Amino acid sequence: MIVRAPFFGGNWKMNHGPTEARRFVESFAELHRTAEDRTVVFFPPALSLAEFREAASGRPDLLLGVQDIYWEKQGAFTGAVSAPLAKDAGAQFVLAGHSERRHVFGDSDEDVARKVGAIAGEGLVPVLCVGELLDERERGEADAVVRRQMEIGLSELDREAIASAIVAYEPVWAIGTGRTARSEDASAVHRLAREILSGLVGNAAARSIPIIYGGSVKPNNIEDLLSAEEVDGVLVGGASLDPEAFAQICGAGSGSGQH
Ligand code: 13P
Repeated sequence: MIVRAPFFGGNWKMNHGPTEARRFVESFAELHRTAEDRTVVFFPPALSLAEFREAASGRPDLLLGVQDIYWEKQGAFTGAVSAPLAKDAGAQFVLAGHSERRHVFGDSDEDVARKVGAIAGEGLVPVLCVGELLDERERGEADAVVRRQMEIGLSELDREAIASAIVAYEPVWAIGTGRTARSEDASAVHRLAREILSGLVGNAAARSIPIIYGGSVKPNNIEDLLSAEEVDGVLVGGASLDPEAFAQICGAGSGSGQH
């Protein structure tokens, strides 16, 4: 699928069950008008997907994703969701390697690679999340961490599949902390990510792969982040739970996204 930049992702994490999801959609749809020049994708808990879809049935511009999958297609894997199940439920995007999966649940780079492979294999868009811990940044290892997570994370994809993926740079120290990367620091890592992608698929294809930023994105810093060089969109946690805040974020960068 063609993903138009800027890309606005709302990662609800373990928040908003079906009841709250419906309420959210009803008010968000009032606040954010359909806009052709951007992509808006929600990543609710898998349990809320059906309710979200139904509540948003008049709004095909509000796309859906899931927050994680297991790489097997089906079977005896209690508690897990697979790429085919996510697709059947209406998801078009899947996050892989989110920092909470890596650091709370122990997903390794190799696990993430298998997940990315399974997502792309199902025709869904993998959103590969990468980002360094604070002590890795302080030791000057941020670039090496991002390089390793990207190279291993994309290792099961061929060039064509890489060209259809999305990369999200989320410095772990900026997630849920209220501490955002300065736009020049975000740009520096995004430039590196673009360079890595160019090495994998060539310059032209790498240009069209969205590289988005995540970590304490709020209405008051969205314009600054979106205008930063090489930042093609954002992945929002906390602020995506509030319809007003997220509608404000999704209207950034043009003025036509909101009324
Ligand atoms: P916050 O916006 O709450 O910092 O979360 C960012 C994030 O993890 C998005 O995936």
